[in-house]
Amino acid sequence: MRIPMIAGNWKMNTTVAEAVALVKEMRPELDRIDNVDKVICPPFVSLAALRELLEGSSVKLGAQNLYFEEKGAYTGEISPLMLAELCQLVIIGHSERRQYFNETVELADKKVQAALKAGLKPILCIGETPRENDAGKTEEVLTRQLSLTSKQAYHTGLVLAYEPIWAIGTGKAATGQQANQTIGFIRRHILKQYGKEIAQSVRILYGGSVTADNIAEFIKQPEIDGALVGGASLKTSQFLGIVKQTSEIKRVK
Ligand code: 13P
Repeated sequence: MRIPMIAGNWKMNTTVAEAVALVKEMRPELDRIDNVDKVICPPFVSLAALRELLEGSSVKLGAQNLYFEEKGAYTGEISPLMLAELCQLVIIGHSERRQYFNETVELADKKVQAALKAGLKPILCIGETPRENDAGKTEEVLTRQLSLTSKQAYHTGLVLAYEPIWAIGTGKAATGQQANQTIGFIRRHILKQYGKEIAQSVRILYGGSVTADNIAEFIKQPEIDGALVGGASLKTSQFLGIVKQTSEIKRVK
């Protein structure tokens, strides 16, 4: 059984004070919901304050990025060792990083390896651009984005997030069926690469304009194990609605 996961990617939003206020508001309700891994990924600068606030809570913290070196002369970067003191997970290879900061498949993989070495669970994001989607290249793109991910990485608990770029921040989500089909493809690809055990245990999330109003459509699909949520994760009622529905729909009867 794969435990569902809902991760909120706050992106470059919230000051420390705003982040603290938001978590104070969400925490009590989130703690009442079981059967879901609940993750909040605030900006780096809020991790320390939120870690303290989430002491004893079932809500986990994640970072949104890291650098692959442990320490040294890399002005402005944050290392896996620094993060390992503050959080449990880290988003890697988000399409915004690939698009705006020229992150490559090779760089994303170095970051995955560095995260795992430091004991952080990576949430590796993959997804195609609208142009690649129109050209029927989705499967080719996803295959390339997964080409360096090792069996060991899956084995250690790497989580995948399929985020079609045309659905991010656009309000134009994929349909549940579309997302299920593509995530099914990803799982079959991993099956061919690394066998049944890995393919059946890896959690694959959907991301892109997920809200409390459409989460049910995704979460009821058999291949989809949860969601990586952007905009809606910054609104308490939306995020709680997403987590609650996921817990109920994925509950084994
Ligand atoms: P939105 O939910 O705002 O579309 O963002 C999705 C995303 O990029 C999560 O990582």
